[in-house]
Amino acid sequence: MDRVVSHGPEMSPWEPDRYLAFEKERTLPARDLVRRIELEWPSRIVDLGCGTGTSTAVLRERWPRASIVGIDRSEEMLRRARASVPTGDWVSADRATWTPSEPYDLVFSNAALQWIRAPAAAAARLFGFVAEGGALAFQIPIRYARAPGWAEVLAQVVRREPWIHRFPTDAREDGCIGMGAIYDLLAPRAARVDLWDTEYVHVLPGPQAIVEWTRGTGLRPWLEKLDDPAEREQFLTEYTAGIASRYPKRGDGKVLFPFPRRFVIAYR
Ligand SMILES: C[S@@+](CC[C@H](N)C(=O)[O-])C[C@H]1O[C@@H](n2cnc3c(N)ncnc32)[C@H](O)[C@@H]1O
Repeated sequence: MDRVVSHGPEMSPWEPDRYLAFEKERTLPARDLVRRIELEWPSRIVDLGCGTGTSTAVLRERWPRASIVGIDRSEEMLRRARASVPTGDWVSADRATWTPSEPYDLVFSNAALQWIRAPAAAAARLFGFVAEGGALAFQIPIRYARAPGWAEVLAQVVRREPWIHRFPTDAREDGCIGMGAIYDLLAPRAARVDLWDTEYVHVLPGPQAIVEWTRGTGLRPWLEKLDDPAEREQFLTEYTAGIASRYPKRGDGKVLFPFPRRFVIAYR
């Protein structure tokens, strides 16, 4: 049995329906990452930050005979995962403290490592749970550094009155990992490290869809600090106006939503 350290409640609850509204687009990077993993038949796989289980399903599709455990700290997301695959192995745990008793052939994480502090150190720790001949594979979004889009609109809004007094200054952390930093941490212990970035360009129905997309993920920590519905509404109005001017409608009324993501596979 893996050691599961008790953890506090998820600070801002996830909303599975909102998250899954863009399931096809959000699953693409998981598919691209899984396709690139050069492991024939990993028998023990862990999906850290499995959410509703969409990334776990991609793993199961490629390696149907593997034993796969999905780990998440959000009860809302796990409930959805359990409902879609009741026979799955879904465990509630905080990845920051999760310590398996046996190594895994594949330690996998799609779009989840950015949610903890010091993700590079977290990745290095996770590499310690990879079995000989196995791999650590993860993908994280790149926000401010390469995508001065929605995250910059958000940063501009939260720097203005009255929001500047409502959020801690570190609320604008990128959560991304520099290629050099992650390479330096993993390479001395790895047989090989593969790194790449991909910029997806999603075609969405309009600016409101970008607002909805980010409400399902990156905007949650900000919105959850605004208890007063009127204040929340005002914040969303300002953010929506910023999004509309940052992402102009194309000829057919749709918007292009560029979304760069960083991929890392380290083989042991
Ligand atoms: C953007 S979702 C990604 C879900 C899934 N991997 C996918 O590809 O659809 C991020 C998930 O990471 C989980 N998460 C964030 N921090 C976590 C932590 N410290 N321990 C476990 N899960 C965490 C969240 O609860 C959420 O379900």
